Amino acid sequence: RHAPLVAPSMLKCDFGNLHREVELLEAAGAQMLHLDVMDGHFVPNLSYGPMVIERLRSLTDLTFDAHLMISQPARYLDEYIEAGCDWITIHAEAEDDPLPLLQRIRDAGRLAGLAFNPGTPVADIEQALPACDLVLVMSVEPGFGGQAFNPIALEKVRQVRQLAGAEQIISIDGGIGPSTIADSATAGANVFVVGSAIFDEPDYGAAISDLSARAQG
Ligand code: DX5
Ligand code: ZN
Repeated sequence: RHAPLVAPSMLKCDFGNLHREVELLEAAGAQMLHLDVMDGHFVPNLSYGPMVIERLRSLTDLTFDAHLMISQPARYLDEYIEAGCDWITIHAEAEDDPLPLLQRIRDAGRLAGLAFNPGTPVADIEQALPACDLVLVMSVEPGFGGQAFNPIALEKVRQVRQLAGAEQIISIDGGIGPSTIADSATAGANVFVVGSAIFDEPDYGAAISDLSARAQG
């Protein structure tokens, strides 16, 4: 099974100083950056898109975990591939049939991910599981950092783990911090997306180490 990994969410970083934030995260031992792409349509917030990601790509070799909270992902997918995203996750709610898109991501040599919201049952993504390199279980409504963890996600992580097996990468996103990460790991998640619990802390390295230790139990 994939070793537990903390993925800092670049939604909560200092957008006025992206280069510095990337350097700090590298020094803090981060192995990946979680890139929250929001289009002001699928979610009521707007963040950044492929042009910013492409610039970030030139600054670091960290794994880019792109979380596309956008409508019509099929239309924009190639731009995220070309921008250098390593993992590309689309939302089940944004696409009637995610299978061809997941396949397109795999064909491009990237890891294909499927995310689903707290109100979307596991049954809705079950058919797509064989096409998923990762499943991202939302533990808040997508759109904003700093929200409270919804424990409904724990049961969904357990269900996905049971259906998909030990090798599946299962990511959990929203409200993950010192008080929720251990339960998420026990439920079966192995990638932990963290915004506030890293970026609101003075020492990113200490925050990431503490969270990783808690995830390992
Ligand atoms: C929410 C995003 C998350 C979020 C995480 O739509 O997908 O990645 O920014 O931030 P926290 O950890 O503050 O919930
Ligand atoms: Zn996210």
